[in-house]
Amino acid sequence: MPITTCIFDAYGTLFDVAAAARQAATEPEFPQLRDTWVQLANHWRLKQLQYTWLRAITDAHTDFWEVTQNGLDWALEATDLDGDDRLRQRLLDLYWQLQAYAEVPAMLRALKDAGMNTAILSNGSPAMLDGAVQSAGIGDVLDDVLSVQSVGIFKPDARVYDLVGNRFGCAKDEVLFVSSNGWDAAAASGYGFTTAWANRAGEPVDRLPWTPRHVLSDLTTIPELAAG
Ligand code: LAC
Repeated sequence: MPITTCIFDAYGTLFDVAAAARQAATEPEFPQLRDTWVQLANHWRLKQLQYTWLRAITDAHTDFWEVTQNGLDWALEATDLDGDDRLRQRLLDLYWQLQAYAEVPAMLRALKDAGMNTAILSNGSPAMLDGAVQSAGIGDVLDDVLSVQSVGIFKPDARVYDLVGNRFGCAKDEVLFVSSNGWDAAAASGYGFTTAWANRAGEPVDRLPWTPRHVLSDLTTIPELAAG
C-alpha cells in the first residue's frame, strides 16, 4: 500500500532533547554545567525513558511531565548538581521550548504539499507537546498531535500505536512511522507500521525481535521515502 500518513515521535525526533542542557550551559548563571551538560542530558533522557517503560509494565502510569522531572532529579544527583533549585527550574522551563531540528519545518511542509497526513505520536502530555509545537512554529504543518494520555500507557504498548489508525482511518501499512528512538522504531515495525529510524547519533541497532525498515541519519529524506 502507498504511504498516506507520516507519524513522528516527538522528543529526540522532531525536538532536540539535549537543547535544554546545552542552552543552560551557555548561560552565565550556570558555569557548573559547562563540563557536565552532556552527561546530565544523557542521564536525564535515559532515566526518563526507563521510567516510562517501568511504569508501563507495572501498570503505574503517570503524566510524562512527572517522569521528566523524576529523570532530571536522578540526573542532577548523579552529576552532583542536586540542590540547585534555580538550575533545576531553568532546565525544566527550557524543556517546554525545545528547538526543532533544522530540517524539520521544510520536511513537514513537503509532506503536506504532497498530500500526506502528518502527526506527532508521543509519550508527551498534550500541554508539553503544545508548548514544543508552538515554540518550534510547526503547528500549521501537522494535522494532529496524538498523546499517550488518552490511552493511559506509554510506548511501546500497542494501544499507543492504535491511536494512529483510530485518528486517520488508515491501514497499518499506509503509515510511515518515524522515530529517533531505536526501540520505538523497532516496536512500531513489530506492530505493522513501515518505519524509519532517525539514527542521529550513529548508534548500533537495538537487539530486539523487530528491526526498523529504514535507517536514516536525519529527517531530510522522509518526503522521498514516503513517496515510495
Ligand atoms: C516520545 C519520546 C519517546 O516523544 O521520545 O514519545
